[in-house]
Order: sequence, then C-alpha cells, then structure tokens
Amino acid sequence: MIDLHSHLLPGIDDGATDVAMSLAMARMAVADGIATMACTPHIYPGMYDNHGDGIRAAVISLQAALDDDGIALRLVDGADVHLDPGLLDGLRDGRVPTIAGSRYLLLEPPHHVAPPRFEESVFGLMAAGYTPVITHPERLSWVETHYDLFVRLARRGAWMQVTSGALTGRFGRRGRYWAERFTSEGHTMILATDAHHPQRRPPLLAEGREAAAALVGSEEARHMVETRPAGIVANTAPDALPAALAAVRQGVVREAGAGVDAARGPGALRRLFGALRGR
Ligand SMILES: [Fe+2]
Repeated sequence: MIDLHSHLLPGIDDGATDVAMSLAMARMAVADGIATMACTPHIYPGMYDNHGDGIRAAVISLQAALDDDGIALRLVDGADVHLDPGLLDGLRDGRVPTIAGSRYLLLEPPHHVAPPRFEESVFGLMAAGYTPVITHPERLSWVETHYDLFVRLARRGAWMQVTSGALTGRFGRRGRYWAERFTSEGHTMILATDAHHPQRRPPLLAEGREAAAALVGSEEARHMVETRPAGIVANTAPDALPAALAAVRQGVVREAGAGVDAARGPGALRRLFGALRGR
C-alpha cells in the first residue's frame, strides 16, 4: 500500500518528535503493509513555516536513516498545505511541494471554520493545472453544514482523502459517520493515515482498507490505498485513474475499475446502519 499523508519527518511540525519516533512509525507502517509513504508536514504560514527545500532535505536524511536500519519503506516528499493567498505562487516556485513533485497536492482546510471562498480557491488551483486532494473532510467541524460543498468539489474533480482511522472509529462516532458517508456515497478517492505518533495517531492503513471494503467492495478499497496513490506518485492524469465511485454509479463515466458490483454492493445498507448508529 501507499500512504500519501503522514507527519513522519522528525521535529518539524506536530508529528514525530525525533528520529527514533520516525523509525518506530516507519517500522509499524512496513508491518502494516505500507511500502511507500509520503512525508507531508504542515505548511501553515506563521505556525509551521516549512518549505520545499527543507522538506526535501529532511526526506533524504530520514530515508538514509531508514536504509541504515534496514527498514523497507520508500519515502517521497509532499506537504499538508494550508490554504493561503500565496499558495499558487509557492507551488509554482517550489516553496510548496506537491506530492512527489506531481500535479497533486494535499490541501488541508481549517478545522473549525469554513474558509470564505473555499470553492473558488480550489477551482483556482485546478484551473492552474493542479489536482487538490482535500485532507480529512470527515474530521472538519463544519462538514455537518457543508457536506454538499465537498460533494460539489468532488464532482468538479477535487479529490477527497479520508483518514484510515476515521473509518475505524479512532476519531469518534462523528468522524466515523462522515468517513463512512464520504466513502459509501462514492466520494472518497484515497485513504491515508495522517500519522502523527506511533500510539496516538498510528500509521495504520490496512484497517481502513478493510473498513472501506465492507462499504464499497474490496476492489474499490484497493484503489483507495494502491491504484490511485500509485497514480499520484507517478503523476498520472486523474482521468486515467479509476474514477470516483459516485461518478461511476451516476453513469458519468463508464469504467472506473470499481465496476458494477461495487455500485450494487452493501453501501446503501451500511449507510442506513451508519445513520441509525448516529453521529
Ligand atoms: Fe495532516
């Protein structure tokens, strides 16, 4: 599997605090079946002033430590990018890294407030040739009142990244409800761990893949942790990768690899159970 969202680099944000913790997390990831991991520290001007050169250097240094320790994890660079007026310029000049230098970037919306003109900002990035991957919409406090906004963004080609642990209840009932809803309604494009810590926020992706498989079938779940992440790292155009299950169900696209079985799968029933279980 490929995990495209982690705070594995030591000492540069609120993730791993030192190299020993990075190595412990990397060992856990490998044991979980993760072969490639993107190191995506926060870039949040004024709070986490990370930049492309520093991140790339830190990735090279941590990769050397992994290699020395015989940990078979391939690292690629990236960032968990806060929306900021200078974002597009930063992407163009390399201060803000995309995922593995591709057209895809992790875009982290503010947790507690719907930013003004969020849709316009996302569309602006897309018009400039980037594919924003919106991180953990299921965990935002304002998803409750703005779910339709995320559906509109997904329909227009922004990608939704749901947190693996949210699907398994690590972020509470409410996080699980929205994670299941994004996934069962066919808007989740990739799962990622958003790992910060070996115990509190562990780099575990297989459990999320299994939870997703119960909602949308194992083939679509595999697309979320293998096919689409591999396509991102290879900078494959989004329309050459398996389309969103929602688009397949609506007949917008004919072939997504997920197929008709997933569309007929247990998603609707699961959704009902999820709603009954409450938020
Ligand atoms: Fe993150």
